[in-house]
Amino acid sequence: MTRPTVRDDVALMAGYHSPQLDVAVRLNTNEAPEPPPVEFRQRLTEAIATLDWHRYPDRSAGELRARIAQIEGLVGGTTGGTTGGASSGSEQVFVANGSNEVLQTVMLAYGGAGRTAVTFEPTYALHGHISRVAGTRVVEGERTDDFALDLDHVGAVIAAERPTVTFLCSPNNPTGMIESEDTVRRVLAMVEAVDGLLVVDEAYGQFAQWSAISLVDEDTPLVVTRTYSKTWSMAAARLGYLIGPSWVVAELDKVVLPYHLDAAKQAAGLIALEFEDQMRARVAALVEERGRVEAALDVMAVDRWPSGANFILFRPRSMGGTEVWKAMVDQGVLVRNCAPWPRLGDCLRVTLGTAAENDLFLSALADALES
Ligand SMILES: Cc1ncc(COP(=O)(O)O)c(C=O)c1O
Repeated sequence: MTRPTVRDDVALMAGYHSPQLDVAVRLNTNEAPEPPPVEFRQRLTEAIATLDWHRYPDRSAGELRARIAQIEGLVGGTTGGTTGGASSGSEQVFVANGSNEVLQTVMLAYGGAGRTAVTFEPTYALHGHISRVAGTRVVEGERTDDFALDLDHVGAVIAAERPTVTFLCSPNNPTGMIESEDTVRRVLAMVEAVDGLLVVDEAYGQFAQWSAISLVDEDTPLVVTRTYSKTWSMAAARLGYLIGPSWVVAELDKVVLPYHLDAAKQAAGLIALEFEDQMRARVAALVEERGRVEAALDVMAVDRWPSGANFILFRPRSMGGTEVWKAMVDQGVLVRNCAPWPRLGDCLRVTLGTAAENDLFLSALADALES
């Protein structure tokens, strides 16, 4: 058999790899350490028992979109803008199987051959990867030495490349940095000047004090993506969403597969939102735990970056990152080795776990640094 020829650009790709190892303490993928409340499981079991399994699900996920609109403050909010007609709530919400699929749908609609997407590295690797898979040319801008955005550089890249899509990530994975409202507004102005779309990935948005969702309106080329995988403790469900102008959402609805969101998932997504207070409490507890872990790191031989999320980026001062990573794996603790990221050669990223897991991480790191 002669194998069919894959797309030239796909043949050159390495794919996206985030290895999972079978160890006791897994702190490498920024999941929540605690599951949703027991009542959530009970409610979901009841809901699943009464589903019409022989029918296709609600194709538009209307109830879920409406409820997300409500929880994100779109209903009765100021997101209508001055043109394009009234837009309320769910027309400004798109839902898919994880925010990765949301991002993929954005790139299917707005990326593609002859178009450019811009990222500022180091940032979430899937922004570039998904763009490329969708056939989009990717230009990688840079961050400063402390991983902040240099707005002169951002402006120069956007003006020169005239991207259809520009990505920001706030808090940024893997550095943990939150972009300020002023920064997002200024980048938005640069993007508008080249008729582009700004995507702000807020997978960790509930950890930040402000959200770019407050800037979404019908007259602004801005979309914000969020996920159930992190703060909502529902990585297993694969559910994410986008808040943006209704005219963007309408284009996404054209390219996404029909019935892409199964009925059980829609039910899970709806029921989860009834436990918002518990989600906020989990976020607050993680923020407190983050302070404790940061303080412990500060007396070790590592440099660390301030985090506005549920993970911390750090770099051993006098050992290689991979060496420390391996020594920790040998002790049953898995963190993310950032070696494949541009400019993060010796950095490691630890996800905040339970207090007990964090203690195991700290003692494994202390041992590794002494080895
Ligand atoms: C910044 C960022 N965006 C998106 C995602 C993907 O999340 P989801 O599980 O919703 O696909 C992640 C997951 O780690 C992430 O870190």
